[in-house]
Amino acid sequence: MDTGMGMLSWLKSVATALLPGANDDVVNEADEAEDSGLPAVYLLATGGTIAGVGSGAEPVVYRAGAVGVETLVEAIPGINQLARVSVEQFANIGSQDMDDARWLKLSRRVNEVLARDDVDALVVTHGTDTLEETAYFLDLTVASAKPVILVGAMRPSNEISADGPANLLDAVAVAVNPETRTRGGIMAVMHGDVFEARDLVKISTVSPQAFAAPNYGPLGHVYNGQVIFRPQSGHELELFDVATLEALPAVGIVYAHANASAVPVKALVEAEYQGIVLAGVGNGNVHHQLLEALAEAARAGVVVVRASRVLSGPVVRNVEVDDERYGFIAAGTLNPQKARVLLQLALTRTREPGEIQALFERL
Ligand code: SIN
Repeated sequence: MDTGMGMLSWLKSVATALLPGANDDVVNEADEAEDSGLPAVYLLATGGTIAGVGSGAEPVVYRAGAVGVETLVEAIPGINQLARVSVEQFANIGSQDMDDARWLKLSRRVNEVLARDDVDALVVTHGTDTLEETAYFLDLTVASAKPVILVGAMRPSNEISADGPANLLDAVAVAVNPETRTRGGIMAVMHGDVFEARDLVKISTVSPQAFAAPNYGPLGHVYNGQVIFRPQSGHELELFDVATLEALPAVGIVYAHANASAVPVKALVEAEYQGIVLAGVGNGNVHHQLLEALAEAARAGVVVVRASRVLSGPVVRNVEVDDERYGFIAAGTLNPQKARVLLQLALTRTREPGEIQALFERL
């Protein structure tokens, strides 16, 4: 890490944070944190259930994005023995309200913070509903080798068995782990699992084990501060520079189903959307009424990407749908919401289907 923290002192700090009886000298160590060589982790809070407050009644009714970041950190006494944590309240929203303007601002802020010599790693707290999209957006737009970890929670901060504190402590443990940096790319930590931004998918509406990587599996696991990564693989990263972008191209998602009509596609074309992602059935397939509308949209210059509403497996080019003939792009293993992120960024560079297909095959 930039701090030059050795493996031994890192292990000692993990043990001090996590083992009962190992933290007799915690107060002194905290006071001397700067000198102790603990890595500096910058925490950007954006809201979500991790910062939510429940009614305390049964059934629990709660509001996401209600608690400030200082309160989140105070709930985790061990955190200061793992890292010197500084905090910033970037936003405090439910992630269903995440939008392009906030993505551009967040990406710029993350790049700015990571460029600082006094920051070793960054943790972003985020609502779980769109966490996978923000993680992938940052993966494609953040130009730093320092670790960036997204984390959320499924239970509000004051609920019995709130999962936020443990998830946040795990996220910091991953952020400061020496191996994280060698892996590269944006990661997310939830319920003891470490995920690559590209593969992560929300798979449960309410369970604390809410995320999976259906195509490639988790990148690793974190337990009691120990991070165990799977054997190295990974994809080539190629970054989009969004530093001066005021807005992203408009791209919508159209969901396929039995008897699907052309109406949503026509509405997007009329609203001058530049791209449409199909959440197709099976291998990105679609009812013929919708297919004809998509083909017409592509002929009119709208870029059409075929993804699938099915949880795992790739959408393969020219198998069930003749992409070549229609000028479509196959999304591979990107789900519709992530295909939308990549298409928005791709459209800032080119509108040529062949070039966009190549980006979908690389990123
Ligand atoms: C949100 O995404 O902001 C609410 C849901 C959650 O964080 O689990």
